[in-house]
Amino acid sequence: MLRSVQMTEYAGPDGLNDMQELVRRTWSPASRLHLGDVAWERSVNARRSSADWRTAVWRDGEDVVAWGWLEQPGHLLMTVDPDRAELATTVVEWFRASANGPRLAAGVLETEKHLLAALESAGFGRDDSAPYFTHHWISLDGLAEPVVPDGLTLRHVRQDEVAKRGAVHRAAWSDLGPSKVTDNDMAQVMSTWPYRPELDWVVENEAGEFVASALIWLDEQHQVGLVEPVGCSPAYRRRGLGAAVNLAALHALREAGGTKAVVCPRGDDGYPQARALYQSIGFRPGSRTLHLLLG
Ligand SMILES: CC(C)(COP(=O)(O)OP(=O)(O)OC[C@H]1O[C@@H](n2cnc3c(N)ncnc32)[C@H](O)[C@@H]1OP(=O)(O)O)[C@@H](O)C(=O)NCCC(=O)NCCS
Repeated sequence: MLRSVQMTEYAGPDGLNDMQELVRRTWSPASRLHLGDVAWERSVNARRSSADWRTAVWRDGEDVVAWGWLEQPGHLLMTVDPDRAELATTVVEWFRASANGPRLAAGVLETEKHLLAALESAGFGRDDSAPYFTHHWISLDGLAEPVVPDGLTLRHVRQDEVAKRGAVHRAAWSDLGPSKVTDNDMAQVMSTWPYRPELDWVVENEAGEFVASALIWLDEQHQVGLVEPVGCSPAYRRRGLGAAVNLAALHALREAGGTKAVVCPRGDDGYPQARALYQSIGFRPGSRTLHLLLG
């Protein structure tokens, strides 16, 4: 069976379509990555860091059956068709041969047993002191109605509002140092499938500036939306805008055919505010990510 599998390596940003094809075909609630994770991570970071990326894709005939992505020289993300679990070992071998970093690391969801088994048999072990992320789930039945204070407006963005959309992202994500996301990065996000402006919601102030935002990516095949990312400008926080813009995007997701949504905030106590926001509107925790280190 393994003999018919062909591997292709990509340098730089190429390979996204193959990665998305596999994520979509094999997605289940046990998967670490949703179609939107791959779309967001590859598009928002492409111009800045794709020169360092290495991606390998394994294909059996027409089907993509496994991929590995070194999004940093020593860190692996991967997706392997659970029906072809033996390929997880092949991906880990490729990682060890291609990686270049002081200490090799990989991230999986605790439910991805086939990935975990391949990593553990190659000598990787859990690092329980590292930050981790917890999937949170919400059903789209019975969502609360979004409410914003007088003078502020909730709406979805238009495709040509790249600069304003980039500005609200940077405002929300500059607490720990200036966000590196440029308008060009945001243009890349907004032109990456399956981005849809009707699922990208904002709160607009009286001056026409965006002050909060929530983007949802819809996997139509599984009717599941991924919320990634959400933000509110520091001057407007704790006024219910993060909750409202999230709820508005979730209503739009339901109208677009979604039945449930997932979001993946930090699960450890090092950054509890995002988890608190999602739980305040009804998301409930599920599986967590694991960080594995070699040696
Ligand atoms: C997380 C973030 C989006 C919250 O936005 P916000 O508009 O201030 O959130 P809301 O006012 O709607 O808060 C709703 C609820 O979430 C919880 N919450 C929000 N911020 C919180 C914080 N800093 N600490 C604890 N709980 C918090 C509370 O339960 C809050 O209800 P309350 O104010 O009645 O107690 C905002 O702090 C932000 O942009 N942070 C940087 C980017 C980020 O971390 N995004 C989320 C990960 S994708």
